[in-house]
Formats: sequence, structure tokens, C-alpha cells
Amino acid sequence: MSGSPLRLGVLLSGRGSNFLAIAEAIRSGRLPGVEIAVVISNIAGAPGLSAAESLGLSTAVFVSKGRKRAEHDTDVAASLHEHNVDLVILAGYMRLLSPEFIAAFHNRILNIHPSLLPAFPGLDAQHQAFDYGVKIAGCTVHFVDEHLDHGVIVLQRAIPVLDTDTAETLSARILTEEHIAYSEAIARVASGEYEISGRRYLRRDSF
Ligand code: GRF
Repeated sequence: MSGSPLRLGVLLSGRGSNFLAIAEAIRSGRLPGVEIAVVISNIAGAPGLSAAESLGLSTAVFVSKGRKRAEHDTDVAASLHEHNVDLVILAGYMRLLSPEFIAAFHNRILNIHPSLLPAFPGLDAQHQAFDYGVKIAGCTVHFVDEHLDHGVIVLQRAIPVLDTDTAETLSARILTEEHIAYSEAIARVASGEYEISGRRYLRRDSF
């Protein structure tokens, strides 16, 4: 990789463990050529935001409660542009994005979802999968399009569901996979060595 670093804009609403895993991957040199430009939350007291401040990263809060989606997203997009963000990383961002925002960052927004999509989109995916009785669970990193948990899949990681699992132990093991998957997906996208063909993300080295 050469040239200027790929600048990430992280959006989060909660604890931020995926954000912290990405920050650690960057710190330890596992994501060369990638830096975090800004961490933005729609929730003022989000633990992930305090963690970002402790790491000395630029942060911003745009409280979403009670605001029209498009207006709120305009503020977030302006902040991302101010920080020269190349790739938007949704890391537990509990807010749907407006079509305008998604269009402004076409194929430049990644999300992580704690199921093997297209199974179990939406909230509490790990519990949905557990309750359904699946034998294989996992997580998905995908580009964001205008439909919920739907865009082009960059990668997935799968784990077996154990007979001894509870929904909580399964969620914890999925989260461990998420922390690996997100940095790996960012590395792949940062390399630029891919094409999107219909719904398929194809790595150039596999052509
Ligand atoms: C993760 O399970 C992620 O897959 C989902 O929201 C959760 C965020 O967790 N989109 P964290 O805030 O990154 O710890």
C-alpha cells in the first residue's frame, strides 16, 4: 500500500468493543495505511466515545433523539467530510441512515452484523439465531445500502453453536469473531484490490 492513509470515521452508540478492536489492530500494525480520523456518536454518554477520548482520538457527538433523520445525518456527514473520512465504519451504531447519507458515501460505509446474513437481520440477531436452533452462527461485515443489514458482503466468520451454549455464551463467542472480522474486512477494503459485481465482492487476487 502506498500514498496517504485511509481515514476511518467510526460511528457508534454503545460500548464500542468493535471500535476498540479496530483501534488496537491499527496500534499494533495489523492495519497498515489506515488511521481513525474521528469517532462520532449519537449518544452523549456512549462508553465507546469515552474510550475514544482516552485514546486521544478526535470525537464528536450529534444527539439524534428527537431530530429528523435527514437533518441529523447532514450534521454527521459534514463532520465526516471535515475530517476527510474515506471509509465510514458502523460499530454498533443504533440508528438507521438516511438515503442521502448512504448515497453520499456510496460503497464507502461498512457495517458489522452478528449473524450470517441474510439470516437474522435486525435487532438481537444472536438471540434470534439461538432461539431458531441454528447449528452454525457467526458474523458478517458488509457494505451498507438503503436496506437494513443487506448490502454487499465483504466477509463472514462462522462458528458452531454448541449444545452447551446459552444465548449469552453464543453472543460472546460471536463477538470474539466480530473483533477479528472487522479489521480483516477493513484491510481488504483498504487494499483496494477488489471489485463489486452485482451482490458479489470479489478479491482481485482470486481472479
Ligand atoms: C455488535 O454485536 C455488532 O455486531 C452490532 O452491534 C454490536 C456492537 O457492539 N452491530 P460493540 O459496541 O462494538 O461492542
